[in-house]
Amino acid sequence: MNRVAIDRKADFPGLVNADGSPWHYLDSAATAQKPQVVIDAVTRALGTDYATVHRGVYTRSAEMTLGYEAARRRVAEFVGGREDELVFTRGATEAINLVAYSYPEKGRVLLSQLEHHSNIVPWQLAGWQVDVCPLTRDGRIDLDAAERILTTDHKMVAFAHVSNVLGSVLDAKRAAGLAHAVGAKLLLDGCQAVPRLPVDVAALGCDFYVFSGHKLYGPTGIGCLWARPETLDAMPPYQGGGSMIDKVTFARTTYAPPPTRFEAGTPHIVGALGLHAAIDYVESIGLEAIHAHETALVRQTRDALRNLNSVILFGPEDSAGIVSFAVEGVHPHDVGTILDESRVAIRAGHHCAQPLMEALGVPATARASFGVYNGPADVDALVKGIERVRRIFG
Ligand SMILES: Cc1ncc(COP(=O)(O)O)c(C=O)c1O
Repeated sequence: MNRVAIDRKADFPGLVNADGSPWHYLDSAATAQKPQVVIDAVTRALGTDYATVHRGVYTRSAEMTLGYEAARRRVAEFVGGREDELVFTRGATEAINLVAYSYPEKGRVLLSQLEHHSNIVPWQLAGWQVDVCPLTRDGRIDLDAAERILTTDHKMVAFAHVSNVLGSVLDAKRAAGLAHAVGAKLLLDGCQAVPRLPVDVAALGCDFYVFSGHKLYGPTGIGCLWARPETLDAMPPYQGGGSMIDKVTFARTTYAPPPTRFEAGTPHIVGALGLHAAIDYVESIGLEAIHAHETALVRQTRDALRNLNSVILFGPEDSAGIVSFAVEGVHPHDVGTILDESRVAIRAGHHCAQPLMEALGVPATARASFGVYNGPADVDALVKGIERVRRIFG
């Protein structure tokens, strides 16, 4: 019997169809729906509170600057860091690009077979030599293999904290120990971890932590890079423009200290304030409670799908908030389309993880992923929908 204690559907105006019927939204790993408190914070920031930051001499701008910097502090503390360690970016993708381009000691980077394209392509573009860590049979990053592969030529290890396809959770502490033993840094892609696990960068032992706000119930276009001040300070700017400078002349420009050095141009002020509200919202529920809630839903889903002969499940049994599966003989896109007719929204495709699809030996999977608004009724709707898929294709 699954006990699911959280039921926050009512906080999310986006979860009701135009005719008033419920929408079974199971695509939070792509992007989370927004609670009313975040919508309100964004509306205020764009409306009554709106002004630029860091430059205005007038009161509204000074207040907005305080709000923007308070958001930085809140986001940093959310992952166990400090405000001077937190760079606002457009999202995880930009944060990884920033590190791939600006980290001064380029060399070999060890990635894993399950990485999202945004943790593969930036390293290739920035000229790193990429090595690949294989997975265990149940879909975790194989850290025994990582230990064998790593040499002092490796300057970086960049792994997903939680896989966006399999939901497998990395033993980050061990990964940090392995990276540091050869003098490499560890970057963790926390996109799928921050909405569903408590994160403390000091306990994880990583050197870089990145995530996107929109998967954490916040707005799109805002995310962050966490790193220690001495690590950031050794990195040159990633982009040039306003705000990130100390002194500009045509002969020579000097740069602001981090984190400002990495925030060229007028920032996404509204996004930062929206992300602040999202973190307040998530912490008012509690990450431990969210994790337990999603774990119960994953268990319910895997047990139910296992009972339907002809459904293949991917990933480990203890995956965090995400279940990838395939219905034998049916393309995942057809599964997704038929489920949509029952108002069940899943993701179908390669999930921006083509190398992982190759390792799994499939072109695509179907994926259900959970959030604080999901409950057993959503899983029941998914299972009923898949029974319908089997009847149609049977
Ligand atoms: C594990 C993981 N890494 C990185 C990303 C990229 O995030 P964004 O597109 O918000 O930059 C995603 C988004 O799907 C993801 O799931």
